[in-house]
Amino acid sequence: MKVAVAGGTGVVGSLTVRIARERGHEAVALSRRTGVDLVTGSGLDLTGVDAVIDASGGTTVSAKASREFFRAVTEHLFAAEKRAGVRHHVALSIVGAAAHPHGYYAGKALQEELVAAGPVPGTILRATQFFEFALQNAVRIGSIALLPRMRSQPVAAASVAGELVSLAEAGPGAAPGVTELAGPRAVRMAELLREIRDFRGESGRVIEFPLPGRFGRTLASGGLLPGPAARRDPVTLAAWLLRA
Ligand SMILES: NC(=O)c1ccc[n+]([C@@H]2O[C@H](COP(=O)([O-])OP(=O)(O)OC[C@H]3O[C@@H](n4cnc5c(N)ncnc54)[C@H](OP(=O)(O)O)[C@@H]3O)[C@@H](O)[C@H]2O)c1
Repeated sequence: MKVAVAGGTGVVGSLTVRIARERGHEAVALSRRTGVDLVTGSGLDLTGVDAVIDASGGTTVSAKASREFFRAVTEHLFAAEKRAGVRHHVALSIVGAAAHPHGYYAGKALQEELVAAGPVPGTILRATQFFEFALQNAVRIGSIALLPRMRSQPVAAASVAGELVSLAEAGPGAAPGVTELAGPRAVRMAELLREIRDFRGESGRVIEFPLPGRFGRTLASGGLLPGPAARRDPVTLAAWLLRA
């Protein structure tokens, strides 16, 4: 199978490219670093591709900017998929985003809607935050790390990447339209970062601060925690730390 990974140079996208190749597939990364701008559509050519995995993402907390990003990316991918005869579109979303479409999650909720109604058969995987999230999102001032107040049930990005490849391998319609994957344990993001720093022998305080508005309240109140239907990935923080 030939698979194109949108955002294939990012945290989960690069793992997805690697795992697809390890499983014997041809995998290409689509991102600005590989000459493809998914917001404008420039450089996007899916000739010969069987399945697209969309693991692209932005960094905005603005609902408007997030909706604009995911609308543009999804519409450009679908147009290119139709032209090239791609059979399956697998999109990575976030547990809780559709139920709490505020800030960045407004774009993820729109992405889910567009994929569900898209012109190419689609499958959505919702994942909780990655263990890597605490490192990606901490603001560092000297030895101090600042993180938003947030409860999550983090999962290893490699497990999410493996699941994305499995969904692409299974083909359209083989899995339910939307599935959820979470890690084994709920934790505050600041606590997660403290555990990572302790393991690495890094000193310095981790301070959590509340983000304003409904977006911030969703993060702090556990709105992103998985429901009972989510699959629990067995990879623990301890196992992830030993591998990372
Ligand atoms: N991080 C988490 O904890 C988490 C959890 C669940 C779901 N997700 C979702 O998973 C996706 C990926 O997350 P991540 O943490 O792996 O993100 P990331 O590391 O920031 O990677 C984002 C990717 O998107 C690409 N990209 C950004 N703008 C682009 C553009 N205009 N055109 C083409 N490519 C573009 C980036 O490459 P270039 O910069 O080279 O363009 C990069 O490859 C996001 O949709 C996110 O919402 C993330």
